[in-house]
Amino acid sequence: ASQRRSYHEKVLDHYNNPRNVGSMKKDSSDVGTGLVGAPACGDVMKLQIKVDPNNDTITDVKFKTFGCGSAIASSSYLTELVRGMTLEQAGKIRNTEIAKELSLPPVKLHCSMLAEDAIKSAITNYYAKNPKAKATDLGGT
Ligand code: FES
Ligand code: FES
Repeated sequence: ASQRRSYHEKVLDHYNNPRNVGSMKKDSSDVGTGLVGAPACGDVMKLQIKVDPNNDTITDVKFKTFGCGSAIASSSYLTELVRGMTLEQAGKIRNTEIAKELSLPPVKLHCSMLAEDAIKSAITNYYAKNPKAKATDLGGT
């Protein structure tokens, strides 16, 4: 029963008090913007990262999600997770980690996928704007 309560608490907390909602200047060279949609339901998520070019570290994150509660909770949790990470670390986040942390039921797995897609898309956008960053970060995985 306590397990169940913590599931509701975590999702509801992020849903009721989403962290880091907002947007940043899309045109800034140190900002990467990801905009993704979930084919399953049509929900949309925008996620932006601000990157310190000196160490490829994410210094700020903002999101806007037009979607269900699980998508909002997933993106809110993701923003807390990636702040302070390097781009390489953030690119390795899997939706299963998010789903596990929030105890999302299987039918809501694609909501956490939206968050994984969004951070990847934001990183890709940042690299597209800063091709040199990618060259130094490609160390091989
Ligand atoms: Fe209804 Fe996502 S399917 S909000
Ligand atoms: Fe589609 Fe949650 S993102 S139902």
